[in-house]
Amino acid sequence: MARLEFPKGFRWGTATASYQIEGAAREDGKGESVWDRFSHTPGRIKDDQNGDVACDSYHRWRDDIALQRAMNLNSYRFSIAWPRIQPNGRGPANRAGLDYYRRLVDGLLEAGIRPFPTLYHWDLPQALEDAGGWPNRDLASRFAEYADLVVRALGDRVPHWMIFNEPNVFTACGYLMGIHAPGRREPDAFLRATHTVNLAHGEAFRAIKAALPGSIVGTAFNTTACEPASDASADRDAAERWHRFVNEWFLRPALRGRYPDAHPAGLPSDVMGVKDGDFERMRAPLDFVGINLYTRTLVKATPLGGHALNLGAAPAAPFGGDVGPKTDFGWEVWPDSLYQILVRVTRDFDRPVIEVTENGCSYGDAPDPSGVIRDGRRIEFYQGYLAAVHRAIRDGADVRGYHAWTLLDNFEWAEGYHQRFGLAWVDFASGERTLKESGRWFGRVASENAIEV
Ligand code: FCB
Repeated sequence: MARLEFPKGFRWGTATASYQIEGAAREDGKGESVWDRFSHTPGRIKDDQNGDVACDSYHRWRDDIALQRAMNLNSYRFSIAWPRIQPNGRGPANRAGLDYYRRLVDGLLEAGIRPFPTLYHWDLPQALEDAGGWPNRDLASRFAEYADLVVRALGDRVPHWMIFNEPNVFTACGYLMGIHAPGRREPDAFLRATHTVNLAHGEAFRAIKAALPGSIVGTAFNTTACEPASDASADRDAAERWHRFVNEWFLRPALRGRYPDAHPAGLPSDVMGVKDGDFERMRAPLDFVGINLYTRTLVKATPLGGHALNLGAAPAAPFGGDVGPKTDFGWEVWPDSLYQILVRVTRDFDRPVIEVTENGCSYGDAPDPSGVIRDGRRIEFYQGYLAAVHRAIRDGADVRGYHAWTLLDNFEWAEGYHQRFGLAWVDFASGERTLKESGRWFGRVASENAIEV
């Protein structure tokens, strides 16, 4: 057994998202979000489930904080629901919505836990989707106004902010593949959406810094180590293009003011609607880079031509390879993926401050007759990925914190309540929460600031 110590002051936390845990879909003036609409459309979510109640964290947030205290955590990544603040996506802030987050933030501070909010984890006000959604460039300034309202209201107690959660996932799943809200399958609209989101990123960054000059601002990017499916040079080139598109399409515009060179036929700027001055507008010199990572991607070369989107590359399998064990979601457990991304971002972007903002696994292990949840596979998962983070820090990555996805079992988007990622078990009939064995283990890791492997 080796003991791997993390740097002094390293943050330990969990991550959640408003729509996945809050419930209270219609309370205190909250407007409809694209996820309310989507989940109430028959056939979109497994068993037609929805987030109307979810973990009821809107009322049970004290229980959530108690769980974090029981695990000795000192950072909590949660998201703010835009339609609680601006029910129709524009206009003055809804006081009751802000008050909910004020109560939560004050409770966290009292418990010695850093509030670490994300402004957008996918619940767009439906009124803005009705106005065209993210493919509509106007959303960039709408979003910056929303960011300004929230940061002015909470900035006196919250210095750390994240702008977006996984811009590549909500644009691709929502506008290209149609498996997430708003469920559209329109390749042109998808490309335009990515560009609006990049503009919104830059505008929101400047709005936050203007409202709160001392703020520390990042974004949580979904990432995956892209490995060639074979030794063929065509697959190697394809894997590199896939890396640039999946991992850098939002990161490089923010940090460098330009898109990565991913498309063999060149940037599809006409389809994207790029205008003069946009590259300056999308700059967002983030104070930290948030890394979300679950597994690796094996990439193969594909024929070129067709749509402007065509990269001549595609994943050989949806979520990882066939070597490591699989989680209940079918995602391959491959800790080296996290190491690879941390060292590559460190190398390519001049050693930015990094926070691991999500990493975790879905296993359905349920309470045994004595009520204990023996999820040893989850402990092994975290051991492997945390060892990878430790190795990346040793090799020069400036990683400041680690957030497990997730605090408690919750509404897993298109999968409904069928995938359980929590360190705490949730009985969805009663709302009761119970720490799993992995939660107890994670609590010991946090208090010792070290793992044994
Ligand atoms: C990420 C999302 C998060 C959760 C995990 C499993 O892509 O950010 O909300 O669903 O996947």
